[in-house]
Amino acid sequence: MIFDKKLDAGRIRRDFPTLGKMIYADSACMSLKPRQVIEKMNEYYYNYPACAGRSAHRYGRKLEEEIARARKEIAVFIGAKEKEIIFTKNATEALNLAANGLRLKRGDEVIITDKEHSSNIIPWLKLKKEIGIKVVICNTGTSGIDLEELRSLINNRTKLISAVHVSNLDGMENDISGIVKIARKKGVRVMIDACQSAPHKTIDVKKIDCDFLAFSGHKMLGPTGTGVLYGKLKELEKLGMFIVGGETVLDATYEDYKPEEIPARFEAGLQNYSGIIGLGEACRYLKKVGMKNIEKHEKKLGDILRDGLRDVKGVEIIGSNSGVFNFNIKGMTHHEVAKILDSGYGIMVRSGRHCVHEWYNDHKIEGSVRASFYLYNTEEEAERFVSAVKEIARIGN
Ligand code: ALA
Repeated sequence: MIFDKKLDAGRIRRDFPTLGKMIYADSACMSLKPRQVIEKMNEYYYNYPACAGRSAHRYGRKLEEEIARARKEIAVFIGAKEKEIIFTKNATEALNLAANGLRLKRGDEVIITDKEHSSNIIPWLKLKKEIGIKVVICNTGTSGIDLEELRSLINNRTKLISAVHVSNLDGMENDISGIVKIARKKGVRVMIDACQSAPHKTIDVKKIDCDFLAFSGHKMLGPTGTGVLYGKLKELEKLGMFIVGGETVLDATYEDYKPEEIPARFEAGLQNYSGIIGLGEACRYLKKVGMKNIEKHEKKLGDILRDGLRDVKGVEIIGSNSGVFNFNIKGMTHHEVAKILDSGYGIMVRSGRHCVHEWYNDHKIEGSVRASFYLYNTEEEAERFVSAVKEIARIGN
């Protein structure tokens, strides 16, 4: 598979065993996996199904080589150093690791946005309940975070700004460089939830200059049960350990223990080895296709959705950016629309509150339908989606 300037979705589709006549438009929740990733994962179970960091035999050594290769691939993918990559089971665990490791105290403040996924609000609300931190909400409009408001919310108790890069609700992008610039001037750390950006655009943590960044493997062609917390080395050195046990210590007595080096001290117990190796392969695959090509392709698909459904009677657009289209059809519930799209048109979308409950509650919206397209979707599929939604809206209204 060699790609140059332009993304060829037809060619890419051949790598995805499940793609057929159905239209898969739920990639913001779970991306499909190319056979290269599946084969790489199976390679572990077939050829070297061992433990890393414990066994000196050949399977153990081969596995360690593969894990190191995956860590390097993932580090390069986001412009980090290998030591700055901590493997977790998903972005949720990564965000929890940071939230619990920061050792916040009563009265400390954390700023998040009004459009955070549960994984970047519940850990903070839990700390609010348990130790009395303050969770401060900064508004986003249709074009992203209000930087002036953000500036005004920072005070000497602010310890962290933790913000989503691209919203899973509607694909809206926050100006994360703007956030970091403001935070730096005030000496506040920044964490980025990159779950919906790392799969779709180039991420360079050094350029962004954030302190922490989290993402999941399953949304970027990788396996489920994989995620990453990136942290600047100097921040990881200060971070407390979260889940502890095997391989997180250099030595221990009945009274005390000596933490392992970074990143091992944060990777407790046996890991999802085949998943980690598969995630490395997913990064290699995305890199070959080219993140710029992917971004351009999704923009084109998104334009077809927006142009086609902008002024259609009965279609209420909640938000739409890039390859994400979030909407309702008047007079129908979101689950009804999703079921009709699946059974009547062979189109798979997600319906509900997309794990952004607080935003739906605040806007008094019960839920919505979300289509999310990725590199393997075609323009023809985007047009079929537009026709299907128009037809459902016409019949229902
Ligand atoms: N965060 C996932 C989604 O948006 C679950 O669907």
